[in-house]
Amino acid sequence: MSSRAKSGSIALRGMREEDLAQVAELDHLSFADPWPQGAFEYELKSNDYSLCLVAEDHEAPHGREIVGALVIWMIVDEAHIATLAVHPDYRHRGIARRLLAEGLLRAVSLGAVRSLLEVRSGNADALHLYYGFGYKAVGLRPNYYQTEREDALLLDLDPLDIENLRNLIG
Ligand SMILES: CC(C)(COP(=O)(O)OP(=O)(O)OC[C@H]1O[C@@H](n2cnc3c(N)ncnc32)[C@H](O)[C@@H]1OP(=O)(O)O)[C@@H](O)C(=O)NCCC(=O)NCCS
Repeated sequence: MSSRAKSGSIALRGMREEDLAQVAELDHLSFADPWPQGAFEYELKSNDYSLCLVAEDHEAPHGREIVGALVIWMIVDEAHIATLAVHPDYRHRGIARRLLAEGLLRAVSLGAVRSLLEVRSGNADALHLYYGFGYKAVGLRPNYYQTEREDALLLDLDPLDIENLRNLIG
């Protein structure tokens, strides 16, 4: 996969069935305890309370490639970030910021007023991203990530501010 993709070649859209293999591969590259492909398939096809988005590089050398994925669970008026990953070759160029802002805007249109998530307490990249959105740490879940033996921070963004989210998409 190219590490030189221009940010203009990255488009965000809803996840489709044909994306699932690439989404699962991306998750394997991004997490010590990745979701199996079937978990993404369930979210996409069977969970009515799930919002699934991808970022696609439509100028990738071998054709279109999925370079980012986001799943949000709609829990009453809460948008819970279930998983978010960007391909290692495409990090630090604002793709996660765009994906998350777009996902949260879609969640607001479905009735969300706040967002919650768990994140590894040592995940500096993710914490930088979330604090940039205005998420605040409101709790600690000890040993939440058993593979990495690491605590989770519980982050809360309340309220979801549409103007702020639009500005984050850029
Ligand atoms: C966390 C992750 C999704 C971020 O993806 P990304 O596309 O690189 O993030 P972005 O480029 O959108 O960065 C968003 C912000 O964080 C900043 N940032 C990203 N990585 C950074 C780093 N290592 N150091 C400092 N700042 C960083 C960006 O500069 C940007 O800040 P800005 O809005 O002030 O410009 C990506 O690192 C990843 O997939 N990690 C593995 C999976 C994971 O941990 N997911 C989160 C689970 S909760």
